[in-house]
Amino acid sequence: MLSNEAFQVRYTIALMQNPGKSVLISEQEIQRRVAEMGVRISEDYKGQSLSVVGVLKGSFIFIADLIRNIDPAIPVEIDFMTVSSYGSGTRSSGELRIERDVEGSLEGKNVLLVEDIVDSGLTLSAVKDLLLSRNPQSLRIVALIEKETNRRHPVPLDYVGFRIPDVFVVGYGLDLAQHYRNLKEIRILDAG
Ligand code: IMP
Repeated sequence: MLSNEAFQVRYTIALMQNPGKSVLISEQEIQRRVAEMGVRISEDYKGQSLSVVGVLKGSFIFIADLIRNIDPAIPVEIDFMTVSSYGSGTRSSGELRIERDVEGSLEGKNVLLVEDIVDSGLTLSAVKDLLLSRNPQSLRIVALIEKETNRRHPVPLDYVGFRIPDVFVVGYGLDLAQHYRNLKEIRILDAG
């Protein structure tokens, strides 16, 4: 995995070369890392079944790629929640709204909670508490991206794709005001 320092350097260079919307993580790097995560998860859940709970909307592309990298011998169920904490800006409003809950029971299941990006940790800690109250057999958390600088609500992550500095990123499912989700790579959105 690239270190946070490596991302800082890449970020600085990218902004100098192309201020506005520059690539932080390429399509190939994402695909390679997601495949590795799939292998790790397959090893950890060998001989068990898995209930994947995705936090929409940002995680939908990541989930689609991740579950296709999980060993097909492992029975996988998918469910989704929709929560919002951001409105249309680049900073959390600090409030979490559950707009859509999972459909099925999680009682006695091995739940793998999939989050796109962890910033303050507010979304994740609230969703985690909610899912724990549903009595799963186990609960692990996977995030595609963890921002290293802004964890006001620290939640331990079991699997992390990339650790990045405190920059706002879009693409590969991540949005700004619902835009840019369809980019194949992850780009830095320059506030300026
Ligand atoms: P947190 O609750 O502050 O950890 O924020 C997590 C949620 O905010 C994520 O699920 C995203 O929806 C959104 N978010 C945080 N940072 C970014 C970003 O850099 N780009 C796009 N969405 C983000």
